[in-house]
Amino acid sequence: MRAGSVGQVIDSRHAEYQVGDLVQTTGYWQDYVVATPGKGPMGLVKLPSGVSPEMMLSVLGITGLTAYFGLLEIGQPKAGDTVLVSGAAGSTGSLVGQIAKIKGCRVVGIAGGQDKCRWLKETAGFDAVIDYKNEDVNAQIAHHCPDKWDVFFDNVGGPILEAALDHVNLRSRVVLCGSISGYNATAPIPGPSNLSNLTINRARMEGFVILDYMPRAMEAIEDLMAWVSSGQLIYQVDVQEGFENIPATLQRLYTGQNLGKQLLKIG
Ligand SMILES: NC(=O)c1ccc[n+]([C@@H]2O[C@H](COP(=O)([O-])OP(=O)(O)OC[C@H]3O[C@@H](n4cnc5c(N)ncnc54)[C@H](OP(=O)(O)O)[C@@H]3O)[C@@H](O)[C@H]2O)c1
Repeated sequence: MRAGSVGQVIDSRHAEYQVGDLVQTTGYWQDYVVATPGKGPMGLVKLPSGVSPEMMLSVLGITGLTAYFGLLEIGQPKAGDTVLVSGAAGSTGSLVGQIAKIKGCRVVGIAGGQDKCRWLKETAGFDAVIDYKNEDVNAQIAHHCPDKWDVFFDNVGGPILEAALDHVNLRSRVVLCGSISGYNATAPIPGPSNLSNLTINRARMEGFVILDYMPRAMEAIEDLMAWVSSGQLIYQVDVQEGFENIPATLQRLYTGQNLGKQLLKIG
């Protein structure tokens, strides 16, 4: 199983990498990895001084880049837009909402449970939240987006995507980032029944994969670091421990037990 990881160099045949350096690479579920600079989707990156492994694996890693490029390149938000985010209390979703706020948008998040919804409003600064486990999502989108939404950043798919598509604004954009509600499905999942709303509203729905943006990673990292330093962007990590707990930790993403970027420490 592939896993973006930060590790410590214990042996090196490369002049630029010394024993003790902290490096990020694409590893697997393993204690040790042989990494070569320039190889693999993420190559081998030395952690800049002052950047912790937690930060590198969350806001400055795949999660931060996904939120940044997915929202700004595919969603193309403009100041004053209403941005709706599903999986909003997750690591990607919570950054998406905060970046949209930085860009002057009104942000509505959809998440599961009162604790996550409270955290989104009180700590992450979302304007409104919908608890999909306890509220009627369609009715609440109508309530919190009286002028409909301009960007929908979807991490979840399924019934939440379908409910959102009932409130599409003219020329709005759907960012298809993920569809976690269907990742463990054992039968084909029906598509949204209301795709014609995209036609009527001249809207665009587009999937993307962050790997396409890796050559531009530094653009995002500069902005993300600046926003973290200025206190405009907060990030949360959820660190479990122990190699034997890897499968159970992965499962936390599907049960929603994680609050923030799910990480696991094995060393
Ligand atoms: N396109 C790309 O390049 C790219 C890159 C990275 C990640 N992604 C996608 O981005 C999404 C978020 O990933 P992440 O790593 O940031 O994880 P995350 O959001 O930190 O964690 C996953 C969250 O999904 C929610 N969830 C799980 N099952 C659900 C269901 N049936 N209905 C609604 N919500 C459900 C849970 O939150 P609640 O407690 O609120 O239910 C859970 O905390 C995933 O779909 C992932 O595949 C895409």
